[in-house]
Amino acid sequence: MTGSNIVWHHATVNRQRREQLNGHASVMLWFTGLSASGKSTLAHAVEEALFQKGCRTYVLDGDNIRHGLNSNLDFSPEGRVENLRRIGEVGKLMVDAGIITLAAFISPYQKERERVRSLFPHGDFIEIYCNAAFSVCEQRDPKGMYKKAREGLIKDFTGVSAPYETPVNPDLEIDTGAIPLAQCVDSVMGLLRHRGLIG
Ligand code: ADX
Repeated sequence: MTGSNIVWHHATVNRQRREQLNGHASVMLWFTGLSASGKSTLAHAVEEALFQKGCRTYVLDGDNIRHGLNSNLDFSPEGRVENLRRIGEVGKLMVDAGIITLAAFISPYQKERERVRSLFPHGDFIEIYCNAAFSVCEQRDPKGMYKKAREGLIKDFTGVSAPYETPVNPDLEIDTGAIPLAQCVDSVMGLLRHRGLIG
């Protein structure tokens, strides 16, 4: 619902000026992949590397956001769509605020990932597919969720009883099930350097 009596207010302090003040561009780094694929681990490690370079950063993490902002959402298709819609909008605000934003969400639907991408100017949404093999994720099972899903105790579990649609054209694909973390971080930092986003 959009009110027809609502008029956009233009600020004098804009993204460009914030980026100038920060000394770096802002961007959305979107990590997608199965549960336990290493999205959060990689996002936080990349954040650490960026932070050490003096960048302003923030990680939006599925497990954490679902405790607060999105605590009223479930894992039905509708719940996941709304989860990502909100994160897309929050991420858009954070990028406008000049922050390098790292979002780690399963985000299993291609259409919804594309929808979030479309919220950003071209090039400002970087999709990183954490492509750890399903068997590796299931074996890692840090929260015991795959086991519970197999036993039917968790329904609609991604990869077991709910789909994960492989990204069609991600900006970067990393086998986070096999490649050591430091090397995964280097790949992401390399891409950011290649795109001229960091020095
Ligand atoms: S998403 O599909 O809507 O993008 P999100 O990344 O926010 O998912 O949350 C995923 C996390 O929620 C998983 O890492 C796991 O810990 C937990 N979780 C609980 N139930 C489910 C489920 N049915 N499917 C997937 N993840 C679940």
